[in-house]
Amino acid sequence: METYTDYLLTAHNTFHIAARCRRFIAYSSATELSQVLQDLNAEAPLPWLHIGEGSNLLFTHDYPGTVLHSKILGVEEVERYGDEVVLRVGAGENWDRLVAFCVERGYHGLENLSLIPGEVGASAVQNIGAYGSEAGQFIRQVEGIDAATGQPRVLQHDDCRYAYRDSVFKHELRGRFVVTHVCYKLSLRFQPNLSYGALQREMAARRLEAHRLTPQALREFVVDIRRAKLPDPAELGSAGSFFMNPVVDRSVCERLLVDYPDMPHYEAPNGYKIPAAWLIEHSGWKGRRLGPAGVYDRQALVLVNYGGATGADIVRLSQAVSADVLGKFGISLQPEVNFI
Ligand code: EPU
Repeated sequence: METYTDYLLTAHNTFHIAARCRRFIAYSSATELSQVLQDLNAEAPLPWLHIGEGSNLLFTHDYPGTVLHSKILGVEEVERYGDEVVLRVGAGENWDRLVAFCVERGYHGLENLSLIPGEVGASAVQNIGAYGSEAGQFIRQVEGIDAATGQPRVLQHDDCRYAYRDSVFKHELRGRFVVTHVCYKLSLRFQPNLSYGALQREMAARRLEAHRLTPQALREFVVDIRRAKLPDPAELGSAGSFFMNPVVDRSVCERLLVDYPDMPHYEAPNGYKIPAAWLIEHSGWKGRRLGPAGVYDRQALVLVNYGGATGADIVRLSQAVSADVLGKFGISLQPEVNFI
C-alpha cells in the first residue's frame, strides 16, 4: 500500500487539472482495500473519493479528503463452457490493455471498445460504450467491498442495472461500494458488431468486407477512427465526451426536425437520441475557445484543456456551451463527466 499526503493529482486526471488532495492511497488487494475503508470510516467525517485513471472526472477545486486508487491487477480465465469464456479481471487493469490482451488470445466481444481511456473498475461503474457496444453487455458479475462494513459483496449482471452510461454504482451504491474485480463473459467465436452506422460507412470507404474482418483488423479500425476524432489524453487534456447524448420525447424531436430537417436522431428506449456533438456544433461552438479551455475542433462533444486550464475554466466553458444549446434548441445537456 502507498500513502502520500498533500498529493498533486495532475497525472491522475486526463484533463490534466493541477488539483491537490489531502491524502492519496493506492492499494493492491481487496484485503488492503477493506482495511483502508474501515480505517476511513473510523476517522469520519473526512470525505473520500475513489478514482481510476481520472478519465471521466473534472476537479473543480482541491479535494479536502482522501483519494483512493486501485492497483489490483491480473486477468484469469475462471470458466469455459461451449463457445463462452469468463475472465476475472482486477479493477486496476488498464481497459485498453485488457481489450488488446483479449484480441490476442481469441476472447471476442470487446473489439469495438478499443482505446477507451480508463480502467476496468470504471468500465463497470460507467458502463463505457462506443460504436454500438457497451461494457455492461459483457459483464457477468462485479465484485467489490461494501464501504460501510469493509465486507466483500458480489453483484450479478442484473443487479448492476446497466443503461446508457449508467449503473447502480452511480445511484444507490455511489460512495457505498468499491469495485475490486469484474468478470466478463466473452466468446471464443468472433461475431463482429458492425451495427453502428459510422463503422459501416468507414468500412465501405476503406473497402473492408465484413466477412473478411479479423478481430485484430476490427480493433485497428476502431483505434484509427478514435485517433482521428478524439484527442490523445497524453497530448491534450480532455475527458472524452463531456456531455451525454440527450434523449428527447418524440414530439420534441419532430418539432426540431421541422426547423432542422438534417438533424441526426436515433430511436432510443424512451424517445429519440440526438447527438450532443451536433447540437454543440450547430450552436457555433466547434473549435471555439474560452481562455485556456475549448471545444475540440474535430469532435464537438469533447472539451479540451489547451494548457493551464483550471477546473473552473472548464466549468465556465461547459456552462456557456450548455446555455447556448438550451437557448437555440431548448435541450438541456447533462455532463457525462463527474464534477468533483
Ligand atoms: N457530430 C457532429 N459534430 C461533431 C461530431 C459529431 O455533428 O463534431 C454528429 C454526427 O452526426 C455524428 C454524430 O454526431 O454522426 C455522432 O458522433 P460520434 O459517432 O462521434 O459519436 P458521439 O455520439 O458524439 C458517442 C460516445 C463516444 C463514443 C462514440 C462512438 C457518448 C457521450 N459518447 O459519441 O464515447 O466513442 O459515440 O460510439 O455517448 C466517451 O464517452 O468519452 C466517448 C468518446
